[in-house]
Amino acid sequence: MSTLLEQALLRYDGLPVAERFHVHARAFSAPLSAMVARTPMGVVADIGCGHGLLSTLLALEGPGRTVHGVDPDPRKVAWARRALAGQPNVRIEEGTVEETLDRGAPGRFDAAVVCDVLYLLPEEKWAGFLSTVRGLLKPGGRLLLKEVEGDGSWKHRKALAQEWVMVSLLGRTKASGGMALKPRAEMTRDLEHAGFSVREVVDLGQGYTTPHVLYVAEPSVP
Ligand SMILES: C[S@@+](CC[C@H](N)C(=O)[O-])C[C@H]1O[C@@H](n2cnc3c(N)ncnc32)[C@H](O)[C@@H]1O
Repeated sequence: MSTLLEQALLRYDGLPVAERFHVHARAFSAPLSAMVARTPMGVVADIGCGHGLLSTLLALEGPGRTVHGVDPDPRKVAWARRALAGQPNVRIEEGTVEETLDRGAPGRFDAAVVCDVLYLLPEEKWAGFLSTVRGLLKPGGRLLLKEVEGDGSWKHRKALAQEWVMVSLLGRTKASGGMALKPRAEMTRDLEHAGFSVREVVDLGQGYTTPHVLYVAEPSVP
């Protein structure tokens, strides 16, 4: 395990065992360090930050970053705030991406990370969600969108079953009405329709039992 991940997990030591377990499971099942490595310094929005593990990694790795985590689930916001107490370059807020924009944040962020959030929304809301994220970014800002790819593989079917357990059975993940995992060509088209130029599609599934894919995109120049 990398020192950075170890340091980040230490932050969660004081949380109840179920929350600690959730965060540790997340650390080992999602390629968060690969996302951190591609995230620029500056002001970064972590949309749907959950327990805030990615926000923690971004803040610890880059004292030059200011991280704004936002999530609509008040329970997760409370755990994230507790874990990040005293860390000067992070702020965690309860809310949605639209509320972040309404709070006076248009064009303010150097980067936005959206890690395993989009699939929880109904598909008809994806375009609006992505356009709002684009509105948060400065010209030349970077979107890092991590999704599980709907590639028809056994990993894809396992991921769907796992999410059903987390959302519907255990209620540990708050969905907003969706559970769609798309092939990368479709996801790339969705990003382009929402006004992004996709710079890189990175396969991050190797070594994981989930088909992780990272889309690195920038607002298109009109
Ligand atoms: C699978 S968790 C991922 C958490 C975190 N991004 C990570 O990678 O560890 C999905 C998160 O998306 C949040 N979420 C659900 N609907 C959302 C929405 N409409 N806007 C922003 N976040 C949302 C959930 O509350 C949950 O914390």
